[in-house]
Amino acid sequence: MRVIIEQDYDSMSKKAAGFVAEIVRNKPDCVLGLATGSTPIGLYKELIRMHKEEGLDFARVTTFNLDEYYGLAPAHDQSYHYFMHDNLFNYINVLPAKINVPSGTAPDVNGACAHYEEMIEEAGGIDIQVLGIGGDGHIAFNEPGSSLASRTHLVTLDEGTIKDNARFFEKEEDVPHLAITMGVGTSLEAQKCLVLVNGAKKANIIAEAVEGPITSQITSSALQMHPDTVVIVDEEASTAFKRREFYLHSEKILAELLKK
Ligand code: GLP
Repeated sequence: MRVIIEQDYDSMSKKAAGFVAEIVRNKPDCVLGLATGSTPIGLYKELIRMHKEEGLDFARVTTFNLDEYYGLAPAHDQSYHYFMHDNLFNYINVLPAKINVPSGTAPDVNGACAHYEEMIEEAGGIDIQVLGIGGDGHIAFNEPGSSLASRTHLVTLDEGTIKDNARFFEKEEDVPHLAITMGVGTSLEAQKCLVLVNGAKKANIIAEAVEGPITSQITSSALQMHPDTVVIVDEEASTAFKRREFYLHSEKILAELLKK
């Protein structure tokens, strides 16, 4: 895994936007895998700026979101449908027909999950998957113990995740206990994975995910098996890496090489 250490949240977000924008420019009909949570908000702000000021064009782009709370309709202000429109889609020129978020209200859950996987395949697969991590190291909503080969499925959320995400709801009891999520295996099939992590609270878990053993107890550790994963962290999230100095050195050498 390539680990990039940026100074702060802002530079982490800008660096991440550079990776996404490069793909959108080189492949205008690309497929973006997108994530929710507070972590990627800065990335989305930067993509909006690039769209408005630099003409970054999303007209032919298709998007697939990682997950959705089960039981929340798209119009619910805590649904991930709502979040994505509010933080990105309403401000760029992506076509509504090309936006895909798992349905939180499908009566036939298994059918809807299988259909989501089919749609990703029909779109040609995901070119770049943006990922954050939960406090327990989960990606999407793949809680500890999820199969590392899992595909889009219904999951029960862990108590810790419910507590973490309660900050977005009026009260903890309002947080749904179920969600539809792409599987770990789904993300592993993306051409490129871009993992964003900021803040001191996640320093230990991202170090374990990157440098510890691959384990279903920390589902982000499965990304060690992915041939092209880039992890971008801010200073605060970088403190527990054993090989921190190496990552800094390696980026410096790469930057010098690219200058030549
Ligand atoms: C939820 C989402 C994850 C996200 C995580 C972290 O659990 N399903 O995709 O990575 O929250 O959220 P935050 O970025 O707010 O810490």
